[in-house]
Amino acid sequence: MCGIIGAISKADVLPILLDGLKRLEYRGYDSSGLAIIQEKGSLSRLRAPGKLIELERTIDASEGIHGRTGIAHTRWATHGPPTENNAHPHVSGERIALVCNGIVENHEELRNWLVDEGMDFHSETDTEVIVNLIRLHMDRGSDFMSAVRESIGALKGAYALGIVNADEPGRIIGARRGSPLIVGVGKDETYLASDISALIAHTRDFIVLENGDIVDIDQNRVTITDLDGRPQDRDMRTSTLSPRSTELGNHRHYMEKEIHEQGQAASDTLEGRITARRVLEACFGTEAKRIFDKTRAIQILACGTSYHAGLVARYWLEDLGIPCQVEIASEFLSRKHAVPRDCLVVALSQSGETIDTLSSVAYAKECGYAHSLAICNAPDSSLVRDSELVLMTHAGPEIGVASTKAFVTQLVALRLFAIVMGRRAGLDMAEESKLVRELRELPARIESALELESAIQAIAEQFANKQHALFLGRGIHYPIALEGALKLKEISYVHAEAYPAGELKHGPLALVDSEMPVVSVAPNDMQLGKLKGNIEEVRARGGKLIVFADSDTRLSSRENLQVINVASVESSIAPIIFTIPLQLLAYHVALIKGTDIDKPRNLAKSVTVE
Ligand code: M6R
Repeated sequence: MCGIIGAISKADVLPILLDGLKRLEYRGYDSSGLAIIQEKGSLSRLRAPGKLIELERTIDASEGIHGRTGIAHTRWATHGPPTENNAHPHVSGERIALVCNGIVENHEELRNWLVDEGMDFHSETDTEVIVNLIRLHMDRGSDFMSAVRESIGALKGAYALGIVNADEPGRIIGARRGSPLIVGVGKDETYLASDISALIAHTRDFIVLENGDIVDIDQNRVTITDLDGRPQDRDMRTSTLSPRSTELGNHRHYMEKEIHEQGQAASDTLEGRITARRVLEACFGTEAKRIFDKTRAIQILACGTSYHAGLVARYWLEDLGIPCQVEIASEFLSRKHAVPRDCLVVALSQSGETIDTLSSVAYAKECGYAHSLAICNAPDSSLVRDSELVLMTHAGPEIGVASTKAFVTQLVALRLFAIVMGRRAGLDMAEESKLVRELRELPARIESALELESAIQAIAEQFANKQHALFLGRGIHYPIALEGALKLKEISYVHAEAYPAGELKHGPLALVDSEMPVVSVAPNDMQLGKLKGNIEEVRARGGKLIVFADSDTRLSSRENLQVINVASVESSIAPIIFTIPLQLLAYHVALIKGTDIDKPRNLAKSVTVE
C-alpha cells in the first residue's frame, strides 16, 4: 500500500526522499510524488503516474527541486485512478502539502462542506479533503499544529499523515490512526516513514507512533502528543535490519532471492526454539504456559498466503487433538460469533499491518475470545504490539509482493505451536522428540527441493501461452495447492484455481481439455490412492498433468502426465517441502511471461486499507 517518507536535514533532502521511495517500492504503488520547501521558502511539488523512474524523469526535466524539508509518497490508488492529479502530495493554497496512507471514510461529506466554504479540489482522492481542511482552519486563524488537530478531529477512517507548511521550513507534522507511521532519528536529521526499511541507509533509531499520536519534528527534536495536546512517551527502538538485508545481490528478482533464502529462514525460525528433543515453550512469551494450559480450541485469522498457512495448521492441530477453525480475517469481521470457551485467537501476518487481520483480532476481543497469539515477521508491527503472545518468524525482510519465505517460516512457527499444544492433548515425549528431529532436518530438505529448479524451468515453458490452470491437492496438501495457484495468478496473471482433488467431479472437471494444465502435488500419504484416481480422471479427458510427487509414490511420466520427483520426506514437513516447487513454477512462468514479478500489477505488499 502507499508509502510515506519525510525528512528534515541540514543538507538537501531530495536524495533521502528518492532513496526512501525506492526502498518503499515493495509495498506496491502506481504513482509517486514529492514536495520540498525550497530555500526561498516556496513549496515545490512534482508527481508522476507509474513507476518511480517516471518521477525521476519528471525531476530531471524540472528546474530542480531542492531544500532541507520535504515529504514524498508512493500511492496505491483507492479513490481515483493513478493519474498525476491524484498522486500525492496534495497541496492547498500553494503553502500546505500533505501525504496520506489510508482511507478517509467521511471524505464525501467533508468535501461537500469544504466546497460550500469555497475550497477548490483538483483530484478525485479522499486525501485532498485533509489538506483543504488544514488550510481552511489556518485561514481562519489557527496555527499550523492547531489546524492539524482540528482537521484530524473531523476525520473518520484510518490514516498516516505527513504534512509540511512552506511558512515553517524545518518542521513536519505527522499523525497516525490505523495506518503505520514511524519517526526516524538521525544525526542532525529527523525523518518520518511508513516503515524503517525506508530509512535504513540513514538511521536505525526510530520511534513507532501509536494510534492517536500526533508528532511534531524538526532537525533535532521529536514531540509526540495526542489529539488534545497531552504529551505521549514513546520508546526509541533500534532496528536490526542492515542496509544489505534488502539488497538484491546476484538475483534477478527479490522473489527469486527469497525463494532461495528459505532453508536459512527456516533454520533461523527454529534457532533457539528447539532443543534436541523438545520445543521450548518459553519462545511464545512468559504468559504462554498459563494461556496454553487453559486453551481448549484455536481460531486462526489471516489473509491471503497467511490464511493458507493457517489452513495447513488446522490439519496439524486437529491431528494432535486440538479443535481449530481458520477464517479469512475480512469474513470473520462480517458476522456474529458463537464464541467457543477458552479459545485462543492466532493471528498470522507477515507484515503485522494488514488492516483486516488487525481489525479481526480487535473484533475477536470484543466478541469475548479469551486470548491472542500473533505469528508475525515484523517485530515493530501493530499486530505484535497488540497481541498477548507473540512468536516471531525470522524470515528477514520480504520485499517481493508474492510471499514465499514468510509462508514457509509461518509454517515452521505453526509446527512449533502445534507441538506445544499437542502436548496438552497427549503428545508424549517420544513422539515430540521424533517431530522435533524431523523439523531439524527441514532446512536441508528445503535446499534439496530447490535443486528441482532446472526441471521446473523446463516445465514452465508449457505455460507460455496458457491463460488458465487448475491446481489439485488432497488433505493437508489442498492448502498447498491453493498457495501454488495464488502464487501463479499473482505474478504471472495466469488464472489459476485450486480444488481439493475430490471435488473435481463436482464441477471443475468440465474445464479439463487438452489446453488445460493441471498441476498436482502427490505426497506419499493416505490420500495417495484416491489422488491417483483423480489423476486418471484428468488424463482420460486429455488434460495435461504436471505432478510433483514424492519419489516413493512410484508415479511415473507417461502420456499427458509429467511427474517431477520430490525427494521423500516425513509427512510432518511434507507441506513445507511441496510448497517449494510450486513457488518455483510460478516464478519461472512469470519470468517467461515477462511480468513485473516483484511488484505485480494492482497488488500491494502490505494491505493497510480495508
Ligand atoms: O502481511 P500479511 O501476511 O498479513 O499479508 C496477507 C496477504 O495480503 C498476503 O499474504 C498476500 O496474499 C500475498 N501477496 C501473497 O503472496
